[in-house]
Amino acid sequence: MDKIVIEGGRPLEGEIRISGAKNSALPIIAATLLCPGTHIIHNVPELRDIRTMLKLMETLGVSWERREANTLVINSDAVTEFEASYDLVKTMRASVLVLGPLLSRLGRARVSLPGGCAIGARPIDFHMQGFQKLGAQLELEQGYVDARVSGKLRGGTIYFDIPSVTATENILMAAVLAEGATIIKNAAREPEIANLIDMLTRMGAKIEGRNRDKLTIHGVKSLEPCETVVIPDRIETGTYLVAVGAAGGDVTLTNCRPAHLPSMFEKLRNCGLFLEEGKDSIRVIRSGPLKNVDVKTMPYPGFPTDLQAQLMTLMTLTDGLSVIHENIFENRFMHVAELKRMGADIMVDGGRAIVKGHGKLNGAPVMATDLRASASLVIAGLAAMGTTEISRVYHLDRGYDDLVGKLSGVGAKIRREKE
Ligand code: EPZ
Repeated sequence: MDKIVIEGGRPLEGEIRISGAKNSALPIIAATLLCPGTHIIHNVPELRDIRTMLKLMETLGVSWERREANTLVINSDAVTEFEASYDLVKTMRASVLVLGPLLSRLGRARVSLPGGCAIGARPIDFHMQGFQKLGAQLELEQGYVDARVSGKLRGGTIYFDIPSVTATENILMAAVLAEGATIIKNAAREPEIANLIDMLTRMGAKIEGRNRDKLTIHGVKSLEPCETVVIPDRIETGTYLVAVGAAGGDVTLTNCRPAHLPSMFEKLRNCGLFLEEGKDSIRVIRSGPLKNVDVKTMPYPGFPTDLQAQLMTLMTLTDGLSVIHENIFENRFMHVAELKRMGADIMVDGGRAIVKGHGKLNGAPVMATDLRASASLVIAGLAAMGTTEISRVYHLDRGYDDLVGKLSGVGAKIRREKE
């Protein structure tokens, strides 16, 4: 396994180009199962989770190739298999996203239950209830969801107790070829869903309610392959904004979408960062002291849970108290113990963490536990006095394309080496 070594205390200066969004590229790749032909997807990030999804697609009969750096060409003429095996699904829960398109294309899908992960139980009951509402028969056996429908799925009305991102995406992909209309109530409104809707619409799907919490899908007879561009990764963008906040400096992020981070901008300005928004760029400067803020994670457009750990690191560098409520996942404070090794003063009480900032952190050996917690440790290392070593960095490789290269490019003293 590799580790990352950071000599902290150096401000960041220069430019970082943001990559395509992992959480857009994953459902968009799955959606190529919906119809035969050659699909072209641009701005696909180079990530471990993308490689895992492409491996899963290959087992289903799909072939693919990377063209210039970030373009994927996917041929789904021959979708011969309908099973997503445990050994693939257990490494990436987003594999469940093949359930909807396989049911639409083949009327059959057998997908391993993903199992929990570091941040929570991560059930998929909303997904399964949705498929049943569309006429699928589901059985749970030996840890697999076995779904089938004779003929086509039939439109229905589905209500999500919680606006689940991948459940919304899965039901969207099941409904586009169903008989009749499907209504999804309390649908998630993350920008990644609009990105998927744009792709499905270009393929010939009829979908109303883009960016709203009620989606209406009118089933069509068939779809055509298309060309799609993955939107910039808003979580990667937010991560680097916080990194500049923590380390100090003046950085311009390019190829990003400021409009996709409404609540984050508010928070970071209240922390004392200077943010200048362009159409597809953000200049972020932090020169003065940081101010403490409170945060509650919420579904979009609220504060993203995927940026909670990063913001917590920033709060350890203020001189005040911050209360952070994690409302989406039940165990997303794994980074707290590691930050405390670096001198942070944080008390966890259920879904709430109380951070007492002392204005600084000290470098130390720490361990990555999940994707976004790893990012919060990198940010801590950039700000800490001394050397920080982060082990198990394979977590980072899941969601950050060339993180070491991007941070070195703006002056960070950061390297990757064999553990
Ligand atoms: C997506 O996960 C993202 N992953 C997550 O990003 C992100 O943290 C999450 O949305 C919330 O924004 C992808 O898009 C691939 P949910 P997802 O279903 O869809 C509960 C990252 O770091 N729930 O919106 O799995 C669930 O337990 C990852 O990139 C059910 O109870 O999240 C959670 O409490 C981490 N039953 C809440 O809903 C279900 O069937 C929201 O989860 C589904 C979800």
